[in-house]
Amino acid sequence: MFDRKAYEQRMKWYQEARFGLFIHWGLYAIPARGEWVRSTEQMPEEEYLPFFEEFDPVDFDPAKWARAAKAAGMKYAVMTAKHHDGFCLFDSKLTDFKATKTKAGRDLIREYLDAFRAEGLKVGLYYSLLDWHHPDYPHYGDLHHPMRNCEAERDVERNFDRYLDYMHGQVRELCTEYGKLDLMWFDFSYGEMTGEKWRATELVHMIRSLQPDVIIDNRLEVSGSGFGSLASGNPSEFSGDFVSPEQIIPPNGLQDVNGNDLAWEACVTMNDHWGYCARDKRFKPASMLIKKLVECVSKNGNLLLNVGPDARGNIPQESYDILDEIGRWMQKNSASVYGCRGSGLPKPENGRITARGNHLYYHIMENSIGGIPLYGVDRNKVEKVRLLQDGSELKVQDNWVVNNYPDIAFVEVSDTPALPDPTDTVVEIVMKE
Ligand code: GLC
Repeated sequence: MFDRKAYEQRMKWYQEARFGLFIHWGLYAIPARGEWVRSTEQMPEEEYLPFFEEFDPVDFDPAKWARAAKAAGMKYAVMTAKHHDGFCLFDSKLTDFKATKTKAGRDLIREYLDAFRAEGLKVGLYYSLLDWHHPDYPHYGDLHHPMRNCEAERDVERNFDRYLDYMHGQVRELCTEYGKLDLMWFDFSYGEMTGEKWRATELVHMIRSLQPDVIIDNRLEVSGSGFGSLASGNPSEFSGDFVSPEQIIPPNGLQDVNGNDLAWEACVTMNDHWGYCARDKRFKPASMLIKKLVECVSKNGNLLLNVGPDARGNIPQESYDILDEIGRWMQKNSASVYGCRGSGLPKPENGRITARGNHLYYHIMENSIGGIPLYGVDRNKVEKVRLLQDGSELKVQDNWVVNNYPDIAFVEVSDTPALPDPTDTVVEIVMKE
């Protein structure tokens, strides 16, 4: 039975946080062609195992990652405990295919958790339901397995239940050996490989019994595509707690069939890959990512922004620079993000609006001639207006041209043609209660 009260309780911090860091890291940082490299190149395990022998992230410094995330204004992080390749960054007792058996010789997940918690961030773990290393995971004929077309695998007998025991066992390890987890991020379901195929009810019951407050994504049912039973108005036991659109911001936010807003989190790469890709320099500008964060909030969603550290354990400099620039904006404007949601007003043509209680945050992304119209803001209901970045008073204009539009509040934010913040100048409007 879906317990709405418990749900709202556990979702509170998450829906206030709005902004998190996704970390995709593993052996695939060495070939440096993204985390799907084994699948896209249909690479046999023998060709991948040398990366296991070689893995030696001498520069791994999770405290540095955590500081960068915090300075960017992020409130939580999610890191790959195991990705599709099956390699575990944690010290699982159930496999030797793990970081502690590499030259790294360390439990990288434990160190990540310690470092991010120390910065006051909430912590989550990504765990792949797929596993291209485990002998009992379907090979031949699977949609994604690297050996899907390999005739020699066709008649090999595999015991999927044995894989599920392993997978459940690892999730149990994560839920018992690593302290309080704030988020479990499963990835992903496809075709027949969904729901009870993963023994999902049993899995979720175990997780909730061990980590009663943990938030779970919806990918025991779906992938980045599809919304899952959360959207049906009648969520299953394993619907998870939020929808996880991938590389897209839902155009109108997300609602269930009854029109109730759904919690969602857009996961987005900074360039075009999750795992480290040496040649991919298509980084999105920080200014764009700031606007996209605001867009998510204005549609009641979160943004989980990804970095892919390299084989030595460094987050790419381009990513640090982006985090840094976002942080400079967040330092002044985060009140328009944390704890905010959509305002119920239509999107104005010169920006976006976020809201918290009787505070509206009008994000001006385009300048005007003279006063800037705050579309949808009734000037008669305005108590006061402030420029968020410095707290300075802005007067609602009252003059011969704006008075032609008596229902709209106009403000002037600068004496020059440039906006004080060319990316997003935030005006805080306190409305009369
Ligand atoms: C996916 C991919 C993956 C990535 C994830 C992030 O569905 O399989 O590699 O980890 O999306 O959302």
